[in-house]
Amino acid sequence: MKFLFDLSDKYSLITGASGLLGYQHALALAEINSNLILTDIDLQKLKKIKKDISLKFSNINILIYKMDVTKEKKINNVLQNLLKKKIILNVLINNAAIDSKIKSNEKMSNSSRFENLTLDEWHRHLDVGLTGAMLCSKIFGKNMAHNKTGGVILNIASDLSVIAPNHKIYKKGIFKPIMYSVLKHGIIGMTKYLSTYWNKKGIRCNALSPGPIENSQGRSFISKLKKEIPLNRLAKKNEYTAAIQFLCSDASSYMNGQNLIIDGGRSVW
Ligand SMILES: NC(=O)c1ccc[n+]([C@@H]2O[C@H](COP(=O)([O-])OP(=O)(O)OC[C@H]3O[C@@H](n4cnc5c(N)ncnc54)[C@H](O)[C@@H]3O)[C@@H](O)[C@H]2O)c1
Repeated sequence: MKFLFDLSDKYSLITGASGLLGYQHALALAEINSNLILTDIDLQKLKKIKKDISLKFSNINILIYKMDVTKEKKINNVLQNLLKKKIILNVLINNAAIDSKIKSNEKMSNSSRFENLTLDEWHRHLDVGLTGAMLCSKIFGKNMAHNKTGGVILNIASDLSVIAPNHKIYKKGIFKPIMYSVLKHGIIGMTKYLSTYWNKKGIRCNALSPGPIENSQGRSFISKLKKEIPLNRLAKKNEYTAAIQFLCSDASSYMNGQNLIIDGGRSVW
C-alpha cells in the first residue's frame, strides 16, 4: 500500500515561503518527498531557503519565484512558467499574510487604534492575506481542476479566525489591527466556498489555524500570552509539521472545508 502521507513526484506551491512558517511548511512537505515551488516577494531569502533545503533533501526539485500574491499578472506568469516545464501542481498553500508583529522594544503608539486606521492600511493587509489567497486559488486552482489527479488547497488562517484578539496582552496603546481578524475569518469563508466549488474535480480545500509561535516576541508579551493558552506556552515553529503533512496528503483524503485549529487550547477559553 502506498504510504498515505507520501507526495513523491507531486509539486506543492507555497506563498510567503520566505517567512517563519512558510519555511517550516516547505521542510514539512520536503520530508514527505514533495517537489517544491517556493514563492515570496523576498527573492534573496528564497535563494537561501532553496540552498538550505536542497542540502537536506537531495531527492526533490525546488523551484523559486519572486511572486507578489496581490499581482494577478505575476501569478499568471508563474503558472505559465510551470506549464512550460510541464509541471502539474498538486498542492497550493496560501500562507502569505501581513501580521504586524509586536516587537519587545515597540514604543507606545496610537496608530494601531481602530479609530486611527487608514483605508490604505486596511487595503494593504486585506490585499495580501485575503485577495492574494483568492487570486492564487483562482489561478492555480483552475489549473489543478484540469488535472486528473485533483489537488489540495490549504489556507493558513490563525486562532484569530475563531476568536477575537485580547488587546490586554499587548503593550499599552498597542492593538492588533482589525484587518487580521477580518481576513482570517474571511479565509475560513473562502475555505468553505472552495471546498464545494471544485469538489467534482477532486480539489479539497481546508484551513489550518495555528496558535502563536514563539519567535523572540519579548518576555513580558510571552508571559501574558501564555496565560491565554491552556497548555501555558506558545507553539514551537515545528509543531505544525505533522498537520501540514496530514492536510496536504491523502492522509486527509476525506477532510474537506474544515478549519483545523492547533492553538494549545487558546480558543476553548
Ligand atoms: N507566526 C505566528 O505566530 C502565526 C500564528 C498564526 C497564524 N500565522 C499565519 O501564518 C502565515 C505565515 O506567518 P509567518 O509568521 O510565517 O509570517 P512572516 O511575516 O514570517 O512571513 C510572511 C511572508 O509573506 C511574505 N509576503 C508579504 N507580502 C507578500 C506579498 N504581497 N506576496 C507574497 N508574499 C508576501 C513576506 O515576505 C514573508 O516572507 C500567515 O498567514 C500568518 O497570519 C502565523
